[in-house]
Amino acid sequence: MNVTAMKERSREALDRQASDYDLAPWSAHARSLHPSVLAAVDGHRFGRILDVGCGTGALLGRLLDLRPGFEAHGLDISPAMAEQSRRRLGERARIVVGDAELLPYDDDWFDLLLCVDSFHHYPRPTAVFAEMERVLRPGGRLVLADFRLWGPTRHLFNGLLHVLPYGDVHVYSPCELAVMAVEAGFGDLRWVKAGRRGQLLQAVAERDSDW
Ligand SMILES: C[S@@+](CC[C@H](N)C(=O)[O-])C[C@H]1O[C@@H](n2cnc3c(N)ncnc32)[C@H](O)[C@@H]1O
Repeated sequence: MNVTAMKERSREALDRQASDYDLAPWSAHARSLHPSVLAAVDGHRFGRILDVGCGTGALLGRLLDLRPGFEAHGLDISPAMAEQSRRRLGERARIVVGDAELLPYDDDWFDLLLCVDSFHHYPRPTAVFAEMERVLRPGGRLVLADFRLWGPTRHLFNGLLHVLPYGDVHVYSPCELAVMAVEAGFGDLRWVKAGRRGQLLQAVAERDSDW
C-alpha cells in the first residue's frame, strides 16, 4: 500500500469514528495518555500550542480549562474529527484539516507541540519529525505520546496493523523514536511510561534551548 492510500485509510477510519469517538472503547488508549501529557507540560510557560492529530479536541479542551490564556491550534487529517474539535472548542482554538507531514504554519511558530496517539498513523514519520522541528521555535518543546509495546508484541501488532482497516501504520520503540527525533534536530530527550500501554517522549527543538 502506498503512502497516499495509507493516509486515506486513516482519514476514512477516523471520519467513521468521529461522531462517537469520545465515548467509544477505541479512544480509551488516547484518553489514558492525556494525564501524562498534562503532567509533562505542567509548570512550563507557553503562548502558542499546536496539537498534531488533535482528534476531537479533548486534550486541548482540558489544557484550556486548566491553563487558559494560550493560543490553541489543532490539526487533523480527518475532516469529521476536526469538525468535532471545532464544536467542542469553538473560538477557543483554531482547528484546520491537514497532514502532519505538511504543517500549514510558519517556521518557529509554536512554543509547544502535542502529538497524542496519532504518530503511529504516519507512513513517513521522519518527514513529520522534520516538520515538527521546523514549526517549533528554538527551545520549543515536543510532547509525543503513543503506544508502548514490548518487542515481540510490537512486531506482532505491527504485522496485524496492515491488515486492519483502522489506518494505523506502525508502533515504534522508544529507541526508534529517539533516533528519529535526534536526526530531525531535537535534543534533551526524556522518555517516560504513560498509562498502562503508553510511552511519552519529550524533546526540545535544539537551536537555542530556553525551555
Ligand atoms: C487515535 S486518534 C487520537 C486523537 C487525539 N490526539 C486524542 O488524544 O484523542 C489519532 C488522530 O490522528 C489523526 N491523524 C492520522 N493521520 C494523520 C496525519 N497524517 N496528519 C494529521 N492527523 C492525522 C486521525 O485523524 C485521528 O484524529
